[in-house]
Amino acid sequence: MLNKESEGYEAWVRDFEAERERRAATGDPEWERGAALDPALVRSLQRFQVGEDGDGSALIGKADRAGDPHYARAVRLFVAEERNHARMLALLLAAGGAATLEGHWSDAVFVRLRRLLGLRVELLVLMVAEVVALRYYRAVRDGAPDPLTAEVAGRILADEERHVPFHCRRLREALAPLPAPGRRAATLAWQGLLAGAGAVVAVDHGPALRHLAVTRRAFARDVLRSSGPLAGAIRGAGPAAGLREAARV
Ligand SMILES: [Fe+2]
Ligand SMILES: [Fe+2]
Repeated sequence: MLNKESEGYEAWVRDFEAERERRAATGDPEWERGAALDPALVRSLQRFQVGEDGDGSALIGKADRAGDPHYARAVRLFVAEERNHARMLALLLAAGGAATLEGHWSDAVFVRLRRLLGLRVELLVLMVAEVVALRYYRAVRDGAPDPLTAEVAGRILADEERHVPFHCRRLREALAPLPAPGRRAATLAWQGLLAGAGAVVAVDHGPALRHLAVTRRAFARDVLRSSGPLAGAIRGAGPAAGLREAARV
């Protein structure tokens, strides 16, 4: 049976387009309900909003050069979803009477740095952010007492759960030409980077996580725990069909 794993990227394009149509049919959350936002959560959401609003043009350029028009199209649709996350977070903050942050210099440096990377390394870096985001939005969805906040986080989380298997698949193909020890080294480095990023976010967003009833330790531990099955899938060691489940750890 053909599915997203055995087919080319046409299936991912169809999936992203179906989601876009579903989004249009559902419409936006009711922003006019307003949001009661804890100050620690405001600071945390503001930082994530800037991150979601990252520059997708470098990734699109690299995807174009990779020579698969279906993949390039899927990447454009992925970037559009990330921009929609930034838009929804900005509207959520506005509904709570809070502003968005001007981009921080560190984001500008990060964007510039990413431009220097090849598609493979860029995707590994992007996957760090995506996997941390999975745990973060789950914490917000399940722990925020404000209903509008929980709804926005739930919508973003549902997208991120599709993004992770999408990038996993591409990474598996990109690493496939490497010998097994090379693939292992790359995924181990990725897991190390992810563990570091998870710990930094746990500390940095500690007050917001406390408000969401998630300890820093539990946050960092969950991020680390989710990395094993994903690293296996990227290496091609795990069953490809399990990617979606791995994203839900
Ligand atoms: Fe996102
Ligand atoms: Fe994402």
